[in-house]
Amino acid sequence: MSRRDSAAGTDRIAAASPPFISARDVKKVYAVGEQSVTALDGVSLDVAAGEFVAIMGSSGSGKSTFMNLAGALDVPTSGTLSVDGLSLGTLSPDELAHFRNRTVGFVFQQFNLLPRTTALKQVMLPLVYADPLPEDPEGLARTKLESVGLGGRLDHLPSQLSGGQQQRVAIARALVNNPKVLLADEPTGALDSKTSEDIMRLFAELNRKGITVLVVTHEADIASWARRRVLFRDGRVIDDARQSPHGEGGPS
Ligand SMILES: Nc1ncnc2c1ncn2[C@@H]1O[C@H](COP(=O)(O)OP(=O)(O)O)[C@@H](O)[C@H]1O
Ligand SMILES: [Mg+2]
Repeated sequence: MSRRDSAAGTDRIAAASPPFISARDVKKVYAVGEQSVTALDGVSLDVAAGEFVAIMGSSGSGKSTFMNLAGALDVPTSGTLSVDGLSLGTLSPDELAHFRNRTVGFVFQQFNLLPRTTALKQVMLPLVYADPLPEDPEGLARTKLESVGLGGRLDHLPSQLSGGQQQRVAIARALVNNPKVLLADEPTGALDSKTSEDIMRLFAELNRKGITVLVVTHEADIASWARRRVLFRDGRVIDDARQSPHGEGGPS
């Protein structure tokens, strides 16, 4: 199978339509006391709809800052970011809230689950802000948990789940509003290597179903699941390469 075929047409989509994420000369400077820290120093990056991108780079290179800006959790000091045709700097607070709730799904290293809340209730939480409210929020949450392999753990608390299962709950929660992009910041950073592989296989499966996926990692094994690898250093993109992803195009 050629790489172009295995990439399910994303190269052609990229050529034909505007990028799904477009960052132009994005800078982010944090003020810390009297000092200023340049977290992003002029990042320009396009990601087409349907891509699966690994964001790599050593600690402090600006990876999380970039993900937070792409998901409108924070605003750049200068430069522009557009996602799904929306210029993030021009949105009203309501439009931004809608964007965060409906367009993006976030996954973090530390799962960020509520300790006394069952898996089913965790996944239902984002639906509280959904507009219009779904008819059957519980059924929807159950379906999402089933889709990540947790149909048998609906009433479990985080403390009753393994790390990998907790991350699956967090992924189901990120997916419950059917976002167009998953922004996962070191999602396997707290997991052992076997469990990490399982989580990456799940991301690959979700990506095949059409969702755009950006995964931050510093591990080459994890990055090998993506079709493209973007390397950050000192707040800049210093390398950007397409690759034949793990699990495709070879004997298995
Ligand atoms: N809220 C913040 N306030 C001040 N400095 C920050 C903040 N967030 C990140 N930084 C600094 O910005 C730089 C990039 O951080 P970050 O994007 O978290 O890097 P990475 O995710 O690649 O480890 C680092 O030097 C970090 O210390
Ligand atoms: Mg980080």
